[in-house]
Order: sequence, then structure tokens, then C-alpha cells
Amino acid sequence: MPAVELHVHLEGTLEPELIMALAERNRVELPYADLDDLRSRYSFTDLQSFLDLYYANMAVLRTAEDFHDLTTAYLARAREAGVRHAEVFLDVQAHTGRGIRAAEVIDGVTSALATGGDHGITTGLIVTFLRHLPGAEALATLQELLTLDAPLLGVGLCSTELTSHASEFAPAFDLARAHGLHAVAHAGEEGPPQNVWDVLDILRVERVDHGVRAMEDPVLVRRLADERVPLTVCPLSNVRLRVVDTIADHPLRTMLEAGLVVTVNSDDPAYFGGYVDENLRQVADALALGPEELLTLARNGVESAFVDDARRAELD
Ligand code: ADE
Ligand code: ZN
Repeated sequence: MPAVELHVHLEGTLEPELIMALAERNRVELPYADLDDLRSRYSFTDLQSFLDLYYANMAVLRTAEDFHDLTTAYLARAREAGVRHAEVFLDVQAHTGRGIRAAEVIDGVTSALATGGDHGITTGLIVTFLRHLPGAEALATLQELLTLDAPLLGVGLCSTELTSHASEFAPAFDLARAHGLHAVAHAGEEGPPQNVWDVLDILRVERVDHGVRAMEDPVLVRRLADERVPLTVCPLSNVRLRVVDTIADHPLRTMLEAGLVVTVNSDDPAYFGGYVDENLRQVADALALGPEELLTLARNGVESAFVDDARRAELD
């Protein structure tokens, strides 16, 4: 079982039942008749079709208590999956953009993450800038979070890869680095291998989220392997968002054989049919991964985590 999860969007752990409960608590009108109607929408043709529903459902998250409950529910489920260290993504701009104060979001999430110890889980918070919004807004968001003294582990970049250039986000990533924060970015999920080159060279990220399309570029594969840049791969997400046709077509085994530092993660487990344990189970079955490959995946997770040596030794 995986000890480490490095690619999970907290908002992507918002289960349909919690959406309905929070809608009632906050008197938010949803365009769904009931839970079954909501569930019937969980069929996606590409990343954007998912993002539309994902952002829309966030309307129910309004107070610090909501963010606290969302985070607590994730920690409980992650513990069940055997997770002992989780670095979670938070799309702060998806909330400030609809009038929720950043402090409200951060208070709710961090007060819940602080209880991670009760679940035997160490945690880190990575604010993910939204790539469909201007780079200047990413920078302003980080400036506000720094003013609030938000306990950040790092910054990331997500949402659609197809409509902007990584260079727009360089000022935000530079500021993050100046404050000692780690840097990761989604790339090579829907977008071409060039996007992976760009986040490495321009944003100087330490890990690439997804990165499966790097496999189309042998020179890039060699670089990622030589530099041991971790790729946080999310198999069930790739199937549900049609990055690959079926789990049996997933390139994870080929990636391991190419010497890439691959880790298995859940991305948006409430939307894609499983948490990290289920991702690992399904990909191991479909690709007939043996004990050695499973051990490599687990070790890769520990190697790739942003933890100190003492914690890394405990997780190994
Ligand atoms: N935001 C949440 N999930 C995402 C994904 N799979 N790709 C890009 N942005 C996301
Ligand atoms: Zn993601």
C-alpha cells in the first residue's frame, strides 16, 4: 500500500454526499434534482468537461467549517488507504474568485490538516495557481497568502494546459522560491511534451504532476530519468479524462522501465472512481505489476516527498 500521496486536489475529494449536505447547510441552490442526478453527471469527455463540474460544485464550500470538514473527510479516507504523508493541493483562486476570503479557506483547511497527527498522517499544503487565469492573479494570490502567513509547503499550477504559456506564471513561482517554497506543476496531461520542458526550464519545478505525455519525447524522458524528476501519475484520472483509453493502456509500466521516478496518486478521487489505494490496485491488476514494481512505486513516493531526512527514514 502507498505510504505517500503527492497529487490530490482537496476540492477533488468533495464527495457527492458532502456536496448535497453542504448545499443544505449553506442554502445553496444546486442545479441537480438529487444525489443520483448529480452522480449521473460524472462522465467526462476530456479535462475541461470535468473542470466545469468540479468548479461548479465548489459553490457549496463557503465557510471555514466547510473547508475544515472537507479536509477532515479526506484525511480519514487517506488513512484508510494507508497514507502516512499527504501533500495536498488547494485551488485558492477558485474560492476567492467567487467572493470567499482567502483567510476563511486557509483557516478551515489548515485547522483540519493540523489534526493529521490524529490520523497518523503528516501533511503539507500546496497552493495550486489556476492556469486559465492571468499570471498576475497567481502572483497576487501568493502575495496575499504570504501576508496571511499561510503555512504553505509549496506552489503548483493546474487547470487547463491548453490556453496559456508557463512563462506567465514565472513571477509567482520566483516569489515562491524566494520564500523557500517548493514548486510543482501539472504538465503533459492533456498538453504536449513541450509543456513539461517549459515547467522544468521556466518555472523550475521539482516534480511534474501527471507528465504522462512526456513519453512522446525520448529526449525529455532521458532528462527526467537522469535528473530523477518525480512524476505524480494518476491512473484513474487519466482513464476518466480520456488521456488513455483504458487502464490496460496506461503507460505506467513503460514509464517505470524507462527509469522514471513515477508515483501513483488519486488527483480528484471523488470524481474518478477511487482514492490512492484503488488507483494502485487497478493499475497493478491491469498492468500485472509485481512486488518489485510495487516496492519501487512506494519508494519513489517517499523519495519524492518534500520531507526532512528523519521523516523520510520513518516513511521508508
Ligand atoms: N484540477 C483538478 N484536477 C485537475 C487535473 N486533473 N488537471 C488539471 N487541473 C486539475
Ligand atoms: Zn491534478
